[in-house]
Formats: sequence, structure tokens, C-alpha cells
Amino acid sequence: MSESLKIVAFLGSVRQGRMCERVAKFVRKCLEDRGHTVTVIDPLELGLGQVIQPMHFYRNPAEIPAILPQLNEQLKEADAFIAIAGEYNSQISPALCSVMDHFPPVSYAFRPSAIVTYSMGNYGGIRAAMLLRQFLSELTTVHMPNMLVISKVHESLNDAGECAGEDATSRLPKAADSMINQLEWYARALKKEREVGLPKQ
Ligand SMILES: Cc1cc2nc3c(=O)[nH]c(=O)nc-3n(C[C@H](O)[C@H](O)[C@H](O)COP(=O)(O)O)c2cc1C
Repeated sequence: MSESLKIVAFLGSVRQGRMCERVAKFVRKCLEDRGHTVTVIDPLELGLGQVIQPMHFYRNPAEIPAILPQLNEQLKEADAFIAIAGEYNSQISPALCSVMDHFPPVSYAFRPSAIVTYSMGNYGGIRAAMLLRQFLSELTTVHMPNMLVISKVHESLNDAGECAGEDATSRLPKAADSMINQLEWYARALKKEREVGLPKQ
């Protein structure tokens, strides 16, 4: 059996009736079926809100809300990340940027990340996916070329995160598989190299 990985998935919506939950359930099951451990960071559940102050900007460490260092430890221990975002006005959903912005780039460094976008329209948030490449690079994680882009999310996945309609047997599971294949490969390769050492800054 291949080595199990620790994967942190970020949700990118706090909207009433949000679709991100069904997307997260689908992605989570795909990863758990391969034996990985998934931690979901949900800005709604955590009540994080918009960035008031990123963790690394506090001058007095005693003022940092306790939840931030706790989550930051999970990031530092992760082997890989997944960013799950709906498209809002052709952009990455603000809640996704906000939750990830709370933590310093070093907490994401030398680990891979995968991009999952969705929308209720035909294009599945592909414009947000392109922007996510830039955003994730800025956070210094290595994003995967293969992405999971889910169009008509309300029809493609049901509330339980199961594929529905014409996507049930083919497109979505295949796209998820090829994205996760890459993520696993990079996560294992980078883990080995991290154990050898990090490059001089
Ligand atoms: C403010 C807002 C802007 C949106 N803009 C786009 C858009 O530019 N392109 C698109 O395909 N869908 C757009 N949508 C539809 C969302 O992609 C869709 O509602 C998706 O389910 C949002 O994610 P959520 O349900 O997890 O919040 C927009 C939705 C909202 C709320």
C-alpha cells in the first residue's frame, strides 16, 4: 500500500446555501479512498471572517487568536493542500483568499497544492482556477497542472457529494483521479527532498 499523506483542504465559501460543501465531500472521499488523511479548514465553521490581521503580522504574539497557531501547525505538518473555490465575478471566491491569507507563505512552502473550482454555469470556475495558479505560487506552494473544474456543480454533485447525471461515471472521477495522481507524486517526491534538506534562501 502506498504511503498515506496528510492533506489540508481549504473551503472557499461562507455563503448561505453554499455548494462548496458537496464539492469538499466529493474530494474528501476521493482522497480517503486512497488512504489519505484529510483535514478541512472551513472559514464558516471557524468564524475566521475576512483577514483582520494575518498571523505573521501580529507584533505581540500574545494577541494572536489561539485558533491561528493551531491551524498553522496543521499546515506545517501537511504533505499537500487542496484549494476549493467557487468563481465569484470571474475571481477566486474572496473567502478562499481570506482564509489562506491568514497564514505566512512559509507554512505552505515546499509542498504541492491542487486546484478545485466549480460554478453553477458551464465553465466550472476556470477563470478563478487560472488566478488560483498565481495566488498559490505567491503562497510558495507548488500547484498541480491537472485541476478539477466542475461545471453545473448543482447538477453534477448531490448534497452528499456523489456524482450525479452524466458526470457520474466518467468525467469527474477521471479528472479527480488524474489531479490526485499528480498531487500524490509531488507530495511524496517533495517529502523525500524535505527530509534531505531545504534550499538556502
Ligand atoms: C457574488 C457571486 C458572483 C458570481 N460570479 C460568477 C462568475 O463570475 N462566474 C460563474 O461561473 N459563476 C459565478 N457565480 C456563481 C457561483 O460560481 C456559484 O454560485 C457557486 O456555487 C458559488 O460557490 P458557493 O456556492 O460555494 O458559494 C457567482 C456567485 C456569486 C455569489
